[in-house]
Amino acid sequence: MNTKRISDSIEKILNKQVRQEAEAAQIFLSYAIWAEDKGYSGTADLLFRHSGEERDHMMKVIQYILQRGGKAKISELAAPPKDPKNMQDCLEKLFQHEVDNTKAIYGIANMAQEEKDWATWNFAQWFVKEQIEEETLVMDLLDKLKIAGGPDATDESLLIFDRELEQHSDEADMARDASVENP
Ligand code: FEO
Repeated sequence: MNTKRISDSIEKILNKQVRQEAEAAQIFLSYAIWAEDKGYSGTADLLFRHSGEERDHMMKVIQYILQRGGKAKISELAAPPKDPKNMQDCLEKLFQHEVDNTKAIYGIANMAQEEKDWATWNFAQWFVKEQIEEETLVMDLLDKLKIAGGPDATDESLLIFDRELEQHSDEADMARDASVENP
């Protein structure tokens, strides 16, 4: 009896996402090491934690494929990118990476909708929300860096920026949770 509950095309796009999340974990890890090496320990902490989150995302997709009777695949990963030029470059590249990942998630949701695979569509919605949070988190960091001087930030203002990141929450506030009391 065939108990596979996802199509071959859904299985394939989900396995592509497994790779995407694993590569994201590697990219965050390589940028965390860059930050630590430069002495930005607060930034490094945040990026190391975020790398772990990306790995958790990978595990979620693997577990979902298996739960639906599919076969998860671990594939070869692209080499991590070169070190960023500076903090501005680092955050801009991370933002672009999150936007690319959002597009990949939308691709899964679109395919699930076309196939009327509502289980996968529902699964993808968790990631849609997560991507809003992750894009917001990096946008917030870019805003903070802009106040610190952006690409022209001095060592002193970068030090303050970096110290603040040490205590920065890994979660961004969601617009959907805003209220008059708590805008
Ligand atoms: Fe797993 Fe940053 O998305």
